[in-house]
Amino acid sequence: MKQVTPYNTNESKKEQVAQMFDNIAFRYDFLNSLLSLGIHKGWRKKCIELIAPRNPKQILDVATGTADFAIGAMKLNPTKVIGIDISEGMMKYGRKKIEELHLEKTITLQYGDAETCDLPDNSMDVITVGFGVRNFENLEKGLANMLRILKPNGQLCVLEFASPTKFPIKQFYKFHFKFITPTVGKLFSKDNRAYTYLPESIKAFPDNENFTAILERVGYKNASFSSVGWGLASIYLADK
Ligand SMILES: C[S@@+](CC[C@H](N)C(=O)[O-])C[C@H]1O[C@@H](n2cnc3c(N)ncnc32)[C@H](O)[C@@H]1O
Repeated sequence: MKQVTPYNTNESKKEQVAQMFDNIAFRYDFLNSLLSLGIHKGWRKKCIELIAPRNPKQILDVATGTADFAIGAMKLNPTKVIGIDISEGMMKYGRKKIEELHLEKTITLQYGDAETCDLPDNSMDVITVGFGVRNFENLEKGLANMLRILKPNGQLCVLEFASPTKFPIKQFYKFHFKFITPTVGKLFSKDNRAYTYLPESIKAFPDNENFTAILERVGYKNASFSSVGWGLASIYLADK
């Protein structure tokens, strides 16, 4: 897989990704809603509905960022939600939201790298990852570490952008990502690269059947995906 990095410097992808999210954290939620016209909220909601039948009590939200997925998971009445991320800047805004909602007793955000974090083996019922796997430096290492952390029969739920293939959404998407996303993103986030890296990283990401094949190769069972937003994103489910 081609390694796409935010700043094309000599630093590792991980360092560049953490730096980029620290830079844009103050505008992340705002730009997410503006650029997607709020559609992304429905996609996370759909993920929560899909994992609900497992009745998960211990949930890990990897690449939690500003904690939208972790907060959304409260619908499932969990006993514990842990959010991990490599960007303290993003989690600062997540912790603020958690405090405002008085959810500190159930949700904890902590520094953690999907690829190396040492949460115990077989400890989580469900792991969610929203728009995170595309940013991993080593995708398979991250997926394998999450498999280790899941309980036997635990479930992974990944929400990630995809490249739409059908007319007219493909053409709209190309236009949006070529002209609107970089311009609006740069204007509000003040980061020249973040919203150019976004479409580049989506293009390089092995989506849909390619991603389920990787999940199976890493050792997950029953890997499946469903497209949302007319193919703009996909929800992947897989079992340990
Ligand atoms: C696009 S944001 C998504 C945030 C949130 N999950 C959401 O749904 O809005 C991607 C997040 O992934 C984090 N990230 C990237 N690589 C990571 C890794 N290896 N381990 C943990 N977090 C990572 C980034 O720091 C960033 O906060």
